[in-house]
Amino acid sequence: MSEIATAFAPASIGNVAVGFDMLGLALADIGDRVIARKTDQERVTVAEVRGVDGELHPYLSSRADENTASIAAQALLDAHGGAGSVELKVHKGVPLQSGMGSSAASAVAAVVATNALLDTPLEAGDLLPYALEGEKYASGGLHADNVAPSLLGGLILCPQVLLPDVIHLPTPAGLSAVLLHPDLQVNTAQSRRGLSKGVSMQLWIDQQGLLAGFLHACASNDIDLLGRSLRDVVIEPQRSANVACFDAVVAAATKVGALGCSLSGSGPSIFALCKDSDARNIASAMEQASRAQGIGCQSWVSPMTAGGARIESLT
Ligand code: HSE
Repeated sequence: MSEIATAFAPASIGNVAVGFDMLGLALADIGDRVIARKTDQERVTVAEVRGVDGELHPYLSSRADENTASIAAQALLDAHGGAGSVELKVHKGVPLQSGMGSSAASAVAAVVATNALLDTPLEAGDLLPYALEGEKYASGGLHADNVAPSLLGGLILCPQVLLPDVIHLPTPAGLSAVLLHPDLQVNTAQSRRGLSKGVSMQLWIDQQGLLAGFLHACASNDIDLLGRSLRDVVIEPQRSANVACFDAVVAAATKVGALGCSLSGSGPSIFALCKDSDARNIASAMEQASRAQGIGCQSWVSPMTAGGARIESLT
């Protein structure tokens, strides 16, 4: 039997403009790693939490009841573990409070690594409820739009009302996502608390129409329709003022061919969907626009078909 498992779980774009709390897209090449080691203790412990710089994290808690990774792993073991538990090392690759699904990536990597050490590991799709326990602690709400794509990859529709079922959506060929992370932080739980509790009938109708258009565009490979549909008329207007470079970055991306552009999750990150051939140019236009506002930034380009979490080693 294996004693140590290392899992990688990618960052993700939550909401994808049209589907607040119910649509998410995995990103390639950026994510968190969790190393799980079997122990004979009763509960999950956290040996270390390292930041993006590889140093011990200055404030992310390594208390097992305060860390998304250990909360998620404990939920899995409570339901499916035998005797013993795991000790986790959490190595962050996703910046905190970035709108890139940082807490979800830790929770997913922890669950995937811990699962690999079970006598009878579960299928990836069955791990969703346990990873969600960690995410729920971090964001204060039950939404799977970061956890589901981080776990399963690609573009995932995951309305709360249908959980634990989630739907893998097809993505039009030849499209990429560009993700710009401005050097700002937004606390997701706080941002969620600040959202209006109601929405007008007209906005509800419009947003439903945009989601429907987007879903059909994905199913029918209709890039023009996808571009016309990729808008958030409900949540983005309530949040974009928190990101000082938002308008400038969106304008810059749109000018050089982005099909659509919006906040990633609760921000501050901003994403664009675009043709593969435009992606690098759009990333550099978005970076320039952010820097012109005096805000440093970093960007990533990812295919819309990025994979989900994976085991990197098992010994
Ligand atoms: N759907 C969540 C929100 C994602 O927008 O609050 C958080 O990253």
